[in-house]
Amino acid sequence: MPTYTEHVTRVITEDIEHAALGTVAVLTFAPPEGQERRPATLGPQSIQAVTGAINAALDRAEAGELGAIALTGTGKVFLAGADLSMFADPSAAERVEEMTRAAHDLQVRVRASAAPILAHLNGAAPGGGLEVALMADVRTAVPGARGIGLPETGLGILPGWGGTTLLQSVVGPEVAVRMILEDPTRDRLLSAQQALEAGLVDALAEDLPAALEEFAAIVAARADSAEAVRAADGADAAVPSYARPLPPADSPEAEALHDALDAPLPTGETRRAWAARMEAQGAPAAARALELLQQLPGSELTDALARESAALGQLVRSDGAKASLYSAEMLRRGKPGRTPVEGAREITRVGVAGAGLMAAQIAAQLALGLQVPVIMRDLDQGIAQKGLAAAREVIAQTAARGSLDETTATRIAELLDATTDVADLAGCDLVLEAVPEVLAIKKSVFGELEGVLDPEALLVTNTSSLSVSAMAADLQHPQRVVGLHFFNPVAKMPLVEVIHTDATDEATLATGLEVVRRLRKFAVRSADAPGFIVNRLLFRVLGEVLASLDAGADPVEVNTSLDPLGLPMRPLALLDLVGHAVADHVGKVLVQELGDRFHASPGLSAMVERKVRFTESRRGSVQPEVSPVVAEVFAPDGTGSAQAPVGEALLDRVLEGLAEEIALMLDADVVERVEDVDLALILGAGFPRHRGGITPYLDSSGAALSGAGRTFHGNRFASGTDS
Ligand SMILES: NC(=O)c1ccc[n+]([C@@H]2O[C@H](COP(=O)([O-])OP(=O)(O)OC[C@H]3O[C@@H](n4cnc5c(N)ncnc54)[C@H](O)[C@@H]3O)[C@@H](O)[C@H]2O)c1
Repeated sequence: MPTYTEHVTRVITEDIEHAALGTVAVLTFAPPEGQERRPATLGPQSIQAVTGAINAALDRAEAGELGAIALTGTGKVFLAGADLSMFADPSAAERVEEMTRAAHDLQVRVRASAAPILAHLNGAAPGGGLEVALMADVRTAVPGARGIGLPETGLGILPGWGGTTLLQSVVGPEVAVRMILEDPTRDRLLSAQQALEAGLVDALAEDLPAALEEFAAIVAARADSAEAVRAADGADAAVPSYARPLPPADSPEAEALHDALDAPLPTGETRRAWAARMEAQGAPAAARALELLQQLPGSELTDALARESAALGQLVRSDGAKASLYSAEMLRRGKPGRTPVEGAREITRVGVAGAGLMAAQIAAQLALGLQVPVIMRDLDQGIAQKGLAAAREVIAQTAARGSLDETTATRIAELLDATTDVADLAGCDLVLEAVPEVLAIKKSVFGELEGVLDPEALLVTNTSSLSVSAMAADLQHPQRVVGLHFFNPVAKMPLVEVIHTDATDEATLATGLEVVRRLRKFAVRSADAPGFIVNRLLFRVLGEVLASLDAGADPVEVNTSLDPLGLPMRPLALLDLVGHAVADHVGKVLVQELGDRFHASPGLSAMVERKVRFTESRRGSVQPEVSPVVAEVFAPDGTGSAQAPVGEALLDRVLEGLAEEIALMLDADVVERVEDVDLALILGAGFPRHRGGITPYLDSSGAALSGAGRTFHGNRFASGTDS
């Protein structure tokens, strides 16, 4: 049943007279009337409206009625790309080919037309919006415009309305390849200034009249140089241009394009090798885009566009695209909001108990986000001062990255203070503890704070594994306790798990959520259950991996078994990052609290004792390699077990284990919605967006049915067409 309702983009056409250009048809893209806050997007009817209006203007130009055509938008959006909500509806996705044909026909027609076209980017032009702008001979942008680029490969599809084929003719091969393949992996879109530097826009202009002046000057200059080239014996056919956008085979431009596809990434891996690796992990979009770029030299434009259309049509139906679009929608909805959380209390002064690794980083973020005095308290004067210096260093680094001006940075650094006297925390509306992970210490810190603070002041814990309820049990006012579980490194990690106990009152929870919002981080709520969301699921994975090692499996085989999942790090490197003592402790706690589904690993305890690492970084290898010491520690007599699961068998165990655990968490109301699990895993543990976090993959791989006896999303992801 169709579930998608299109918000049809309007195109308002108006003629204006320009001294140099003559009659100019100005086509303005706008959202539907009364929905001015929505961006103008491209669904099946909208693309007909947009291409229809441009075609009509071209007809008029050919009939001699127009001297030029100008395209622009309204508000802060030129034209957003394809309406993503369309892809969740299979019947709408069926119409992609038809939409692509309309866009491609126009990309070909404009290149044969004599009427010059301007695209004036008054604001964002992502994806399909930029591809419409690529129809123009000249692009201008307002200086404050942001959001210009081609994010498609990050959404499991590719720029299919001419972008993959045509961008290189405007910005050259290196920038085009970077924009299509690399920028989406970092969620990077260009500002107007960056687009100017990349050659994507020709000039900056405050408004349409100024843009038309720039346009007229550029058109005149190009006409002059075309004359000059003709006079000097013909245009250089080897250089891609507006009318002939593809490089000839064997030209220097073709070679430059192929070089760009084989260029190394900062990791040392080439772009081609990276795209192949991503494809093996279930994300084929970059590899398909790379193939299309590879085939451009020597092609006819219509053939290249036909290949683009076929690749887009195939990708739109792939599991990777379905899951990526699910992730994108979830990330958009979960984004820190613009309005304060209802019922939150005012925070005018904040305390932090502890001045160690986490405390100093969190103190800095609290000062940056809340812009109120933040005072850290540790037991030792030296540690307190070191923590203060570390927190101020975070502010200095934020300023150095250009996110803060010097005056604001100085003012915020002065909001930070440190002490050893708990009485100095009096008057704080909220105190967050980041003292050692020992229940007795946390309880004594909260008890001590109750004697100093007003009864309504929040007591917040950053514990990663202890029971928040147990921490609050002996307090006079347990309703003011809430967990805010930050991840390390705090400045970079976008997730905070917000933990409520049965006693936590609404104002406390609302205030906790508001603090996270003010820090511009994503909040995911969890009940007070062992490991909360991210650590519980990560340790379910690591438990299976360690159990296999304990059973004598080959460590190198174990380490690569989860590759198809697409995690940012292999499991043994992750264990090194988490720290063996912490992992050993948490593993044991989870077995105690949740049972034998988790694993307390004798081998890991031995690794802690011997103080050795699982992996070692070697020169020239992209991934750290497994240290030979692991086999010695886990199977000292050299006897491996043929029964120990590796490869697909281990991956299946991990996936079924995750499905089982997530179902248990949903049934016990640890998390409210399955989307919260995926959001937490993407943001807190780097799970891949093209797997939708994890639950779409559990559904499409069959692990949800075999591990949990059900799917998590009905049949939305059940009928996969690829891996
Ligand atoms: N390290 C991580 O990656 C990480 C990530 C998320 C959460 N956490 C949690 O954050 C908390 C702190 O971890 P950390 O790594 O920052 O530890 P840390 O050892 O670096 O810091 C703890 C600090 O608390 C101080 N302290 C001890 N007793 C105190 C008291 N009574 N009053 C005030 N200060 C006291 C210590 O002197 C020390 O400076 C733990 O609960 C941990 O589980 C850590």
